[in-house]
Amino acid sequence: MTLSSQRPASRAHELSAEEQAIYTALDQQRMPQHVAIIMDGNGRWAGRRSLKRFLGHQQGAEAVQFVVETASRIDLPWLTLYAFSLENNLRRPKSEVGFLMKLLKSYLVGNVQRMNDNNVRMAYIGRTHELPAEVQETMIWAAEATAKNTGTTLTLALNYGARSEIVDALRNILADLAAEAHKRGCSIEDLLGAGGLDALDEDAISRSLYTARMPDPDLIIRTSGEQRISNFLLWQIAYSEIFITDRLWPDFRGIHLLEAIADYQLRDRRFGGLGENHSDEQLDTLQPVSELESEIATELAPHEFTRH
Ligand code: FPP
Repeated sequence: MTLSSQRPASRAHELSAEEQAIYTALDQQRMPQHVAIIMDGNGRWAGRRSLKRFLGHQQGAEAVQFVVETASRIDLPWLTLYAFSLENNLRRPKSEVGFLMKLLKSYLVGNVQRMNDNNVRMAYIGRTHELPAEVQETMIWAAEATAKNTGTTLTLALNYGARSEIVDALRNILADLAAEAHKRGCSIEDLLGAGGLDALDEDAISRSLYTARMPDPDLIIRTSGEQRISNFLLWQIAYSEIFITDRLWPDFRGIHLLEAIADYQLRDRRFGGLGENHSDEQLDTLQPVSELESEIATELAPHEFTRH
């Protein structure tokens, strides 16, 4: 557990009064370290106001900055936002994709100063090399301009798809293996036989993903009420808690992030085990298996099925 998770965040006084009311009730020992958000509902937000979709995206970009700044005020170490999926890139009209690219660029240019004021470091995941060159240049500039910040790491998932991330990870692993075989003057089969296969474990795959240096998300939030993961961080969210809100992304603010964290703190995270409410002593008081078996046998006997 990090120090920041034991003490209230040093910038908590910068939260609004409503945010502080929720924040002060949170258990500092159980703050998530990584929150990932599927930002959805920009189009519907615009549609409900008879506005063009692009205005929903524009409002969505405003919401991004509100949430980032609340995250930084509570010292959330990692915030990852699903800003543009591979599927968005392939399946949305070119005009909408073009608008999203322009919006991303102007968001970065317009907010780097605020990122620095809030000690936020910017990073990206996804097949970002396929984005337009001028967008990539702005992304690199923003990452470099915020690289020394030590507060929240804001990771934007851009041209991101979880399945393609896994494909890229496996391609990298195979390329490394081929390079190693070449270096040693042996075959890939020889390397696999000499322990290479055992070395390919879950950690090795995690280390090869775009998120290699990040902890897995503790909490994943999806806005606009859809109950799906949409190809986001499939490997990393194996044990994440999921919070779905009907609120559309452009209406999402820092206070809603805090509400999601409060809900997260009510969860009993078990990671496949029995969770925090079970101790060995409690397990010792459970009924012995032999007793249980004979009880089941007695219970079943009168109802035994006749064979046909
Ligand atoms: C979903 O809305 C949202 C996206 C396409 C991605 C999120 C994009 C933003 C929040 C705007 C820009 C972001 C940054 C970082 C500048 P949708 O169009 O799928 O909504 P709908 O399902 O209601 O149509």
